[in-house]
Amino acid sequence: LPSGARAAWSTLFSHVQSGKISAVNVSDLRIRARKRLPKQIFDFIDGGAGDETTLRANRTAFDRVLLRPSQLVDVSRRNLATSVGIDRLSVPVMLGPTGLQRLVHRHGELEAARAAGDAGTVYVISTASGFSMEEIAAVASGPLWFQLYLWRDRDVVKGLVDRAARAGCTALVVTVDTPIVSIRDRDHRNGMTVPPRVTAKTIAEGVRKPRWVREFLMGPPITFGNFKESDIPGLDSSVGIMTYVNKEMTNPAATWSELDWLRDLWPGKLLVKGILSAADAELSLEHGADGVIVSNHGGRQLDGAPATLDVLPAVVAAVGTRGDVLLDGGVRRGSDILKAMALGAKAVLIGRPYWWGLALDGRQGVTDVMGILRRELDLALGLVGRTDVADLDMSAIDASVTGSGIPTFRP
Ligand SMILES: Cc1cc2nc3c(=O)[nH]c(=O)nc-3n(C[C@H](O)[C@H](O)[C@H](O)COP(=O)(O)O)c2cc1C
Repeated sequence: LPSGARAAWSTLFSHVQSGKISAVNVSDLRIRARKRLPKQIFDFIDGGAGDETTLRANRTAFDRVLLRPSQLVDVSRRNLATSVGIDRLSVPVMLGPTGLQRLVHRHGELEAARAAGDAGTVYVISTASGFSMEEIAAVASGPLWFQLYLWRDRDVVKGLVDRAARAGCTALVVTVDTPIVSIRDRDHRNGMTVPPRVTAKTIAEGVRKPRWVREFLMGPPITFGNFKESDIPGLDSSVGIMTYVNKEMTNPAATWSELDWLRDLWPGKLLVKGILSAADAELSLEHGADGVIVSNHGGRQLDGAPATLDVLPAVVAAVGTRGDVLLDGGVRRGSDILKAMALGAKAVLIGRPYWWGLALDGRQGVTDVMGILRRELDLALGLVGRTDVADLDMSAIDASVTGSGIPTFRP
């Protein structure tokens, strides 16, 4: 072989060996993460509720919507930056709230929050994070939001909200699609528990997944960072913190009055996450929210719920200029971000994609995910003949082909 070709081969070989060959797109990272993680962990991240109808629908909705380019527009300068409330985003993609990232990386949320800051975007801390909000705030360089579940115990909620304010969180995200925790069939089949139980099967798998085992063994115990047994008066220690948190985090009796109470508690920006209709968007605003996140929990709660992109236009029409509308669920491409923004979303959030990056390479892996999405969004923006994400509107959506146009309005 000529020396140039030999050098290229040896670089390629060393990259493959070190697992660092650059991914072409975000879905490539999913395939790699699947190889890296034990099946029960991968499925816990990847799976959805029931038959996963909603999980799939989130994706097909993006595929059904096509774009309408405007040609011969000067797109030599393009802007991806936007603002949500007081927070400036250098790219309109936030890292959504997802619990227990310690499952895939020893530093879990700490790495992801650092990467969000590197990317110039918001990191949303989950109530169920593996590290505490204070630990995350200590390492984060970008804006932080805090996601709250509607707990049964208002004292616990008040404690969390006060801490979020002290930790410098600029928005409160109240998740309302979890009155009951849904059944995810994959988790049931795999016997998924938190922390993962060590059984003969997990040991056998661990032998084939040494990198994950190393992360698992090297980090602190897997638990909920925002709660210590000593913080919870009357906690029955035979029940344990996991059972307590899982049970208490959901409140099947919660109604909109809970939001009124939270509104009085939290003076900053308050967003309601899990909205799938114009009617609920309206109620969110009536009860004091500054905006909504159109979300079906990534298809992990009500199987049969609509795809988020399909209901986005109706929610945007209902909210109008009274608040911000964000969206999550199935965002895997820069063009998905562009479609959501053209249909009225101010920005989007991602869940699973950044877990894949985190599982593969911690902070750098999440940075890679953000880099891919940023590149793809920039490309899509230029090719659709627009120069600023903040100016995107319906005119960038193609409505000429039946079945591929604007999603149906369901007020
Ligand atoms: C592993 C995992 C854990 C999650 N944990 C939470 C959580 O603690 N709070 C919450 O509001 N949503 C949670 N979600 C839902 C995400 O915030 C988000 O709605 C969803 O992942 C978006 O869909 P995507 O994964 O297709 O991007 C979780 C999602 C995943 C995949």
